[in-house]
Amino acid sequence: MDLLAKIEETKNRFHDELRAAGSPEVIDQLRNRYLTGKDSLLRGLFGQLGKVPADQKGPVGQALNAFKGWVEEEIARTRGALHAPKDPTDDPTLPAKLPPLGRRHPVTRTMDEIVAVFARLGFDVATGPEIESERNNFEALNIPLDHPSRDAVDTFYLEEPWLLRSHTSPVQVRTMLRDKPPIRVVVPGRVYRPDKADASHLPGFHQVEGLMVGEDVTFAHLKGMLLLFAEAMFGPGTKVRFRPSYFPFTEPSAEVDVSCILCGGKGCPACKGSGWMEILGSGMVHPNVFRAVGIDPERYTGFAFGLGVERIAMLRHGVTDIRYFLENHFRFLDQF
Ligand code: DAH
Repeated sequence: MDLLAKIEETKNRFHDELRAAGSPEVIDQLRNRYLTGKDSLLRGLFGQLGKVPADQKGPVGQALNAFKGWVEEEIARTRGALHAPKDPTDDPTLPAKLPPLGRRHPVTRTMDEIVAVFARLGFDVATGPEIESERNNFEALNIPLDHPSRDAVDTFYLEEPWLLRSHTSPVQVRTMLRDKPPIRVVVPGRVYRPDKADASHLPGFHQVEGLMVGEDVTFAHLKGMLLLFAEAMFGPGTKVRFRPSYFPFTEPSAEVDVSCILCGGKGCPACKGSGWMEILGSGMVHPNVFRAVGIDPERYTGFAFGLGVERIAMLRHGVTDIRYFLENHFRFLDQF
């Protein structure tokens, strides 16, 4: 091997060893061994210069001097890096940075929680299609074609007889056509209405429907279940209030309020001073609904209820505009 090749090889070895050096002491040893020591590699190489043919002495001598200079520079640079103040944000004892993690949307989470509460009360989960028949969405629920209550939920019509369901109640019909009592189901799902979006309306939103049918299901069961639900969702001590109402598919019907979750019932701006917040509609399944699905209304009774998921999420989190849920702003979503 000629001297130039040896210089090159020594250079590479030094480079590798310096890269592996982690302390000033090791760097000093390297310097000694390669450069300054009595038997340093550089000295050894210079010692061989005498054997180099005369016409190559010049270039090889230059290469040796360049090597010396380069080793000095590399050592100085590596020392400097060792002593450089550490980047204060670069703390190796901190947990590693994770990529941003996604999470369930607040509406999905609220819906899952509602379903989980009723699951603990023995309810199965049922679902149905968002494209529904006019019969399941209206007629079988005792809402005839000319009934004025259709106007409020008149919906998006597709080709006859299909439409976008305006509530989750048609899944009551589907469930009762499929299963024999006793029945206990909750139905989470998306529903559609031709409403203009404003602070409290969206043309598409979510509901959870409930249905319990058996031989001796009474209004007392409805009250008990909804009280347990209200306490689970809004905290122990939450009160419920039933106000007479009207739905074609229940008789009697009731609108259900919970004691205001902000003021506890004293009256505040959130409950408009009343101390109560409306959360759902409910009632005892109308005999005509049972007839439409072939269940004997003389033998069976049942209760049903339906609630708006966005509304519950808004009440619990103090969200003042339902449209926030659709805007996909992380500054909003990151709060949940
Ligand atoms: N379907 C009703 C709506 O969309 C909500 C409702 C009220 C459902 C009373 C029910 C019920 O099951 O019993 O407004």
